Amino acid sequence: MSNNDRGSWSSRFGFVVAAAGSAIGLGNIWKFPYITYENDGGAFVLVYLLCIVAIGIPIMTAEMLIGRKTQKNAVGAFKELGGNKWKIVGGLGVVTGFVLLSYYSVIAGWTLEYFFKSVSGSFNGLSEQEVGNQFGTFVTNPFKQVFWHGLFMSLTVFVIMGGVAKGIERVTKILMPVLLGIFVILLIQSLQTGGAGKALTFLFRPNFSELTFDSVLEAVGHSFFTLSLGMGTIITYGSYMRKGDSLPKSALIVSGLDTCIAMVACMVIYPIIFSFDLVPTKSAGILFTTLPVIFVKMPGGTFFAPLFFALVAFAALTSTISLLEVVVSYFVDEFKWERKKATAGTGFLIFMLGILSALSNGAHQGLSNLNIIGKTSTVGFFNTFDYLVSNWMLPIGGLLIAVFVGWILQSSVKEEEFHDGEQTFFKYNHWNFLLRFVSPVAVAIIIIAVIFGREFQ
Ligand code: TRP
Repeated sequence: MSNNDRGSWSSRFGFVVAAAGSAIGLGNIWKFPYITYENDGGAFVLVYLLCIVAIGIPIMTAEMLIGRKTQKNAVGAFKELGGNKWKIVGGLGVVTGFVLLSYYSVIAGWTLEYFFKSVSGSFNGLSEQEVGNQFGTFVTNPFKQVFWHGLFMSLTVFVIMGGVAKGIERVTKILMPVLLGIFVILLIQSLQTGGAGKALTFLFRPNFSELTFDSVLEAVGHSFFTLSLGMGTIITYGSYMRKGDSLPKSALIVSGLDTCIAMVACMVIYPIIFSFDLVPTKSAGILFTTLPVIFVKMPGGTFFAPLFFALVAFAALTSTISLLEVVVSYFVDEFKWERKKATAGTGFLIFMLGILSALSNGAHQGLSNLNIIGKTSTVGFFNTFDYLVSNWMLPIGGLLIAVFVGWILQSSVKEEEFHDGEQTFFKYNHWNFLLRFVSPVAVAIIIIAVIFGREFQ
């Protein structure tokens, strides 16, 4: 199959928009605000920013480089550059994408339910307790869980069937600007609540006495998750890039946008919470339990609530398509499957696997025991999958990618590929240094810490 049959972005802008769409997702809007809240802001944010610069940007550039160089899916790319031994890293990526998407789509489905709930005004007049109970009832309703998960997977399949330029690129080019627009409206609204000062202080005043080893580790892990690194997503998207597109510039723009959105998400959510003097008890539930209460009390809330949940759903969709594309491109490239068949087949299997996660909250008694982030005590598929992916598969994948591109891939190949396209202040030597010495060491520390039983997710 020639490269033309597998598709490519129709423009330079196409890659950046699609990759930003992949990176910006539930990780930014749902996860980042609550883990920052749990880790007391300031110092955690600073460490997170350092991780983006020292680990995230170098590994993102490495993934883009091997994708664009080989114009192949994650497995094919490793096979071409590193032979059969390294092919396993690509294979690990495909498996990770399969598992990650299966549970990510469950939470993504919640945003649809909450969109419709807020449109129909079903939070009106409810107390915080009642909204919490409603959430508890919702996550333990097996029919609804499977239904919204299935619907979200169907939307994802629908976009991926359209192909690279006509599916992924076209949809993200529409959704991303809408998303930014909605964010601006919400930010303006939220800044008027009067809690902005408190929120800024919380985010940017570092208090190092609060910083624990575990929060450092959590920041490292999250930098992978939020930038879609460690499983070949950026390799796959990079493979649809054209020669001559700038690698360092694209990596800087995508990570810059992703980081800005994570910060803006906090600046939308925190001022509202602070100004209503609400202390979220279960911080993982901020998005689904606290915000609806606030929207009801807030002037214009009936308008902003659906807008907000639509925004989260859009952000999630541009991420789920990037996860499915990793799996689909593997079958299309390596087994010459037809794209539509590959998409329908793998999408259905991922849906089936996700049912396990969709039903796994049913065992808990409502909100009080609900633990949706894979903390320590609860078992169940959802938690187990997230634990395996976030603590093991992504960091191991990222480490292997850094080692491969940093140490194994010939310097001449890397240098030539890096220099093909516009250059920036982020030079080849900076990148190569970070990729060889900083990123792998930092990631190895997480893995060792996990092996020695430090809980950080
Ligand atoms: N980055 C996305 C988010 O923040 C999730 C995501 C999409 C992802 N593709 C990925 C995470 C690949 C890890 C690897 O929500």
